[in-house]
Amino acid sequence: MTDPTNANQALPRHIAIIMDGNGRWAKSRGKPRHAGHRAGVKATRNIVEAVSDLNIPALTLFAFSSENWSRPAEEVSSLMSLFLEVMQREVNVLHRKNVRIRFVGARKQLSARLQRKLAEAEAKTAANTHMELALAVAYGGRWDIVEATRRVCAKVQNGELDAAAIDEHAFARETSLAGMPPLDLLIRTGGERRISNFLLWDMAYAELYFTDALWPQFDQSELQAALDFYAGRQRRFGRTGDQVSEPVA
Ligand code: FPP
Repeated sequence: MTDPTNANQALPRHIAIIMDGNGRWAKSRGKPRHAGHRAGVKATRNIVEAVSDLNIPALTLFAFSSENWSRPAEEVSSLMSLFLEVMQREVNVLHRKNVRIRFVGARKQLSARLQRKLAEAEAKTAANTHMELALAVAYGGRWDIVEATRRVCAKVQNGELDAAAIDEHAFARETSLAGMPPLDLLIRTGGERRISNFLLWDMAYAELYFTDALWPQFDQSELQAALDFYAGRQRRFGRTGDQVSEPVA
């Protein structure tokens, strides 16, 4: 049997990041918020590259939440244009690095053009194997659970699944991150200590790391600090500390 606590010695296999603080970074420099988001894109590119270089197989980034729709229309529209621009510019680079891209979120809420770009990026990179990058856009953890429930119910209704056979595994197969390694480490930048409706199902046993660094400031040394924190955690998965520190027979 594999010992889940082996993760103590290893790097995380799946990191998720709440990239917060672009607006404050811009404000503190007397710049408009969109300048902060542009600086955020730069930080994102560096972190994706660093995670890929570390051979960590999965990274999930919270780019736009279900609740972000209520930001001023001008900011929403500038973020959507930025996503489109980033897709146009970065997909080929990621493809060359053998990165598979997946989008998670209520994509029907996005413009037809952005939906098309996202679908093209997924199709183009579908066979890539080095790392999986999930971008959460128009995403909410509660939305994800409701969608999974809907899919489970549809399977029961059409006779594919017996209601008595619904368990955590059957449910997890219908969530947005199905097929990715379990989430090991959740990072939030920008100083807040909350989850903001991110990966509610997936974070059951994730280690949580909060830093005051604003997202545009989150560089390789900040990532290393998060990895050092992770390496120092004893992951017990419900067992006692003594059980975990005893060598597994
Ligand atoms: C939070 O800063 C960040 C966002 C709302 C998401 C936008 C993220 C990026 C543009 C990074 C690039 C990502 C991709 C996938 C291209 P905030 O505006 O909430 O900052 P504040 O809390 O300081 O106002």
